[in-house]
Amino acid sequence: MKRIGVLTSGGDAPGMNAAVRAAVRQAIFDGLAVTGIRKGYAGLIAGEYMEMDTGSVADIIHRGGTILRTARCEEFYEEAGRWQAVECLKAAGIEGLVVIGGDGSFRGAACLHQMGIKTVCIPATIDNDIAGTDYTLGFDTAVNSVVEAINKIRDTATSHERVFLIEVMGRYSGQIALYAGIAGGAESVLVPELPVSLEEAGERIRRGRSRGKLHSIILVAEGVGSALEIGKVIKERTGLDTRVTILGHIQRGGAPTAFDRVLATRLGSEAVKLLSAGASGVMVGMAASQITVLPLEEVLSRQKVLNEELYRLAGVLSI
Ligand code: F6P
Repeated sequence: MKRIGVLTSGGDAPGMNAAVRAAVRQAIFDGLAVTGIRKGYAGLIAGEYMEMDTGSVADIIHRGGTILRTARCEEFYEEAGRWQAVECLKAAGIEGLVVIGGDGSFRGAACLHQMGIKTVCIPATIDNDIAGTDYTLGFDTAVNSVVEAINKIRDTATSHERVFLIEVMGRYSGQIALYAGIAGGAESVLVPELPVSLEEAGERIRRGRSRGKLHSIILVAEGVGSALEIGKVIKERTGLDTRVTILGHIQRGGAPTAFDRVLATRLGSEAVKLLSAGASGVMVGMAASQITVLPLEEVLSRQKVLNEELYRLAGVLSI
């Protein structure tokens, strides 16, 4: 193998740049040429390619977003679009591809693999909803951003003795809500993976107040439904002054945490080594601090499981 390509696709996630940097530098160290593909699969089809050297990934390890840009690409859902991509890759002499993104990006990579292009994927999404890896790039940063927001909201919640519902991202996953809820000491965490009881959430708030607690914080994963609507029910049930904050895209941006940078570096480097060794159609992840390599087919057919023990612990600690 003489040349590989690197692209980022789907929603941006902190740590993508660190992964690009590691992949590019590992490849150059191993004597491979590297093409950076801009705007994900859209750029792959449109031929938005640039030559990468060690300098082109300088000064990016600490930056959120992705220097390669990203996109969600309709054309790539069509077979004709994918064949066009294969032709473009061949014309550019790209023999292997590192795809950094979430499950949608992995589906595209699995198709390319079946069409004869060697692909290795790196899980990157704040949602942490990919099976076969304990963490995806960007999740730790997003959780830290949410915890920072909880700390600030708690000041107002305490001063005004209010109930706050905080809606967090995660699409169909409650991982951000669960981890941030634990780290932020929330009274209740509502996640789509488990039954939601607003009666119980209201009861927790009442119990807290009777013990002299001044504030209450409920984390709502967006997959559960609108926090604005849930807030109305909680206000009716408790009769307390209630506010709702939707954190939105501030969870997606910002400098990656050290954890995300180290994870990205390890996975970026490993992805290139795997391509050089002839691997294809796989995801490189991390489980119990060890690098894992799994077929994309398996990753895409499995559902990431929410840690119910952790969920119960959150309940125990906020009695
Ligand atoms: O997948 C990352 C994510 O931020 C989800 O948590 C959220 O549901 C979605 O992307 C938002 O997508 P967009 O930025 O396209 O609105």
